Amino acid sequence: MTKTIRTQVCIVGSGPSGLLLSQLLANAGIDSIVLDRRDRAYIESRIRAGVLEQGTVTALEDAGVADRLHREGLKHEGFDLAFDGDRHRIDIAALTGKTVTVYGQTEVTKDLFDSRFAQGQPFLFSVADVALHDLKTDAPHATLTHDGQPIRIDCDWIAGCDGFHGPCRQSIPSDVLQTYERVYPFGWLGVMVEQPPVSHELIYANHARGFALASQRSQTRSRYYVQCDLNDDIANWSDDRFWEELKLRLGPVADDLQTGESFEKSIAPLRSFVAEPMRYGRMCLAGDAAHIVPPTGAKGLNLAVADIRLLSRALIAHYGGNGTHIDTYSETVLRRVWKVERFSWQLSTLMHQFPDASPFEKRMQRAEFDYIASSEAASRTIAENYVGLPLD
Ligand code: APR
Ligand code: PHB
Repeated sequence: MTKTIRTQVCIVGSGPSGLLLSQLLANAGIDSIVLDRRDRAYIESRIRAGVLEQGTVTALEDAGVADRLHREGLKHEGFDLAFDGDRHRIDIAALTGKTVTVYGQTEVTKDLFDSRFAQGQPFLFSVADVALHDLKTDAPHATLTHDGQPIRIDCDWIAGCDGFHGPCRQSIPSDVLQTYERVYPFGWLGVMVEQPPVSHELIYANHARGFALASQRSQTRSRYYVQCDLNDDIANWSDDRFWEELKLRLGPVADDLQTGESFEKSIAPLRSFVAEPMRYGRMCLAGDAAHIVPPTGAKGLNLAVADIRLLSRALIAHYGGNGTHIDTYSETVLRRVWKVERFSWQLSTLMHQFPDASPFEKRMQRAEFDYIASSEAASRTIAENYVGLPLD
C-alpha cells in the first residue's frame, strides 16, 4: 500500500543545499520535506572544505543559523600564493573591503541540521529508488521507498539538491540536458591533524613537485593537501612521506610546520562540471546536482549557497504571486555559476603541475604568478573572486 504525503516543495538531498533551502523556505512559511539516501550521521561525517564567502555568512545569518559560526569561525583578511618558494599575499581586505571566514563545512551542516530538527522539519532518511514524475505539469510528484514502504510525495515544486550522483539531473531528458566537463589529470590527498596551523592564513603553493595547500579548521586543528596522481592510493602515503612532501612544496614557511598523526586521510579527484538548464518544468537544480568545481578556489559550498539564495528567493516570490524570478532562475543562476567555474578553473590551472605541460606552458604559469604579484589590478581580480562575486 503506497503512503501519500503532500507538501509544497519536495527537496531531494540533505546536504548543505537541501538543508539551507528547507530553512529559508520554512522561515517564509513554505513547507517542504527533505529526502536523503543517507542518514544524518553519515551526512555530517563528510569532510569538506572550510572557507566561507561573506555572502555565505549572510545567507546563514538570514537563515538564523550563524550563532556558532560567529563564535567559532576565523575571519581571514588574506591568503598567500606561493610559487617555487616565492610568496605573494593577496590582501583581500585591502583589495575588496571584504573578508572570508574559515569554518568547516561539516559545522555548517551540523548547524543546519540542529535548526531543522529543532523546528520539526520533516525528513525521510535512508530512502531508496527516488524517481520524479510529471515534471512538466503543475502537479509533479516523487516516488521512493522508505523502510521498505512505497511512498508518493505530491508537491508543487521539486528541488534537486541531490549532488553530483543524484537522480534529479538525470530526470532531465537527454535531448534537453547539456553538460560541460573538464577532468583534471591529478587528485588531492588531504589530511587533518590536531596541530596549530603552519601559518595564520591559507597558503596555496605551486612547486615543481606539485601543488600543496595549508589550510585550517581552528587554532589547534589544521587541514593540509598535496597534489597526487589521479590513481594514487592513500596506502602509498605514510604520514612521514606526506609531511616531507608538504614541507618541500610549501618551502621555507614550513620550517615551523608542526606535524603529528594525521586523520581523515583521503584522495579526491578534481573536476569542472556544469549541467544546463538548471530548471526543467517544476524541478529546479541547485548545488552539486548542477555543477562541480575543483576545490582550489574553495567554491563548492559557496556556489551551492548562492544557488539556494536565488532559488529560495524565486520560490518565495512564486508563492507570493510573482513568477518572475522562478521563470528566469536557470538563466540567472547559470550566469554566476559560469563565472565561478572560470575562477576555479583559472586558479587550478595556475597552481598545479600538469603532467603533459610543455616548457612554454610551465613558463606561462610562472609569468602569471609574477604578474599577479606585481600588479594590484591582477591581485584584485583574484581577491574579488575569492571573497565572492555579487549574487546576480
Ligand atoms: N536519493 C536521495 N538522496 C540522494 C540521492 C538519491 N538517489 N543521491 C544523492 N543524495 C543525497 C546525498 O546523500 C547527499 O547527502 O544528496 C545529498 C547531496 O549533498 P552534497 O553532495 O553535499 O551536495 P550539496 O548539498 O549541493 O553541497 C554542495 O557542499 O557537499 C559540499 O563542497 C561540497 O560542493 C559541495 C557543496
Ligand atoms: C579546506 O580547508 O579544506 C580548503 C580550504 C581552501 C580550499 C580548499 C579546501 O581552496
